[in-house]
Amino acid sequence: MSKLLKIAVLPGDGIGPEIVAQGLEVTKAICEKFGHTLTYEHALVGACAIDAVGEPYPQSTHELCMRSDAVLFGAIGDPKYDNNPAAKVRPEQGLLKMRKDLGLYANIRPVATFQSLIHKSPLRADLVEGADFMCIRELTGGMYFGRPQGRSEDGNTAYDTCVYTREEVERIIHLAYKYAGQRRKKLTMVDKANVLASSRLWRQITQEIAPQYPDIETEYMFVDNAAMRIIQWPKSFDVMVTENLFGDILTDEASVITGSMGMLPSASVGIHTSVFEPIHGSYPQAAGKNIANPLATILSVALMFEYAFDMMEEGTLIREAVAASMEANVVTEDIANNAKAFSTSEVGAWVVNYIKNK
Ligand code: IPM
Ligand code: MN
Repeated sequence: MSKLLKIAVLPGDGIGPEIVAQGLEVTKAICEKFGHTLTYEHALVGACAIDAVGEPYPQSTHELCMRSDAVLFGAIGDPKYDNNPAAKVRPEQGLLKMRKDLGLYANIRPVATFQSLIHKSPLRADLVEGADFMCIRELTGGMYFGRPQGRSEDGNTAYDTCVYTREEVERIIHLAYKYAGQRRKKLTMVDKANVLASSRLWRQITQEIAPQYPDIETEYMFVDNAAMRIIQWPKSFDVMVTENLFGDILTDEASVITGSMGMLPSASVGIHTSVFEPIHGSYPQAAGKNIANPLATILSVALMFEYAFDMMEEGTLIREAVAASMEANVVTEDIANNAKAFSTSEVGAWVVNYIKNK
């Protein structure tokens, strides 16, 4: 069935514009192939928005996101802010505001290995081969948003507060059970309940909810142990759910075991329009060089068709095209096997062409 799809395109900073351009071309090719009508509009977010209008998530960008069916997002961040802790307005605030204002309380990061990349993994092949799990990170609570946050008057003491409410925990635990039910039916809830009060709330609520999902095995794990287990036995995970800061750290760890961070997509979902983005960030050293890997963004487009539009066939064709480009060795330098490395736009064009000729 053909549909009208309205997409907000937010390239952001660093390599964002180059990779999002490829994601958009893939979106166009899929819409053409399946007879969907695509309309899209670009908007500013991050350092480029600060430079242009003085704030990292302008109201006009928020309004565009709110009236769109999905947001395709690149990355934000700029070294000129990273090296200046005194900067009052920071690109990252734009990302946090976007998540909060759109109510995107869950960040979903599927971690799956690609056969042709396993030799790039820092782990032994037998440990990673076949690893396939999903991290669900809470995205609008915890220490990132908890108040009070700040410094004492003399500037010599600083504090952040980790705050979670019952409602925030319940909604993400139910979401995690929903995904576990569609997969191998195992949920690992990661916390630090032996030390933190907020973690004890997470654990208590999960224990209350677990009986509602009798066909799903629930496992409880402390975050330090989980960090270890991700590298010792990644295949033991199916769906992992955790709070914001733990999730930020564990998902970076999880992403590299697959061989390249340049391959992993993510979806942020919740109350309003969902956001789809690669997890690798703005990679400023590569910006403007046409060398960044566009496949994580292209796989984020696959997630967009599946999660935001409920179009499974479209998502499947994108995944197939990405796998084919890897098999044909049409890949960027980060994953090229002693073979010729292709540029960002060449890889994108190859994937588009595959879709067109399918
Ligand atoms: C991520 C990023 C962000 C986060 C930063 C850029 C604020 O690291 O999406 O994981 O910490 O959430
Ligand atoms: Mn992160």
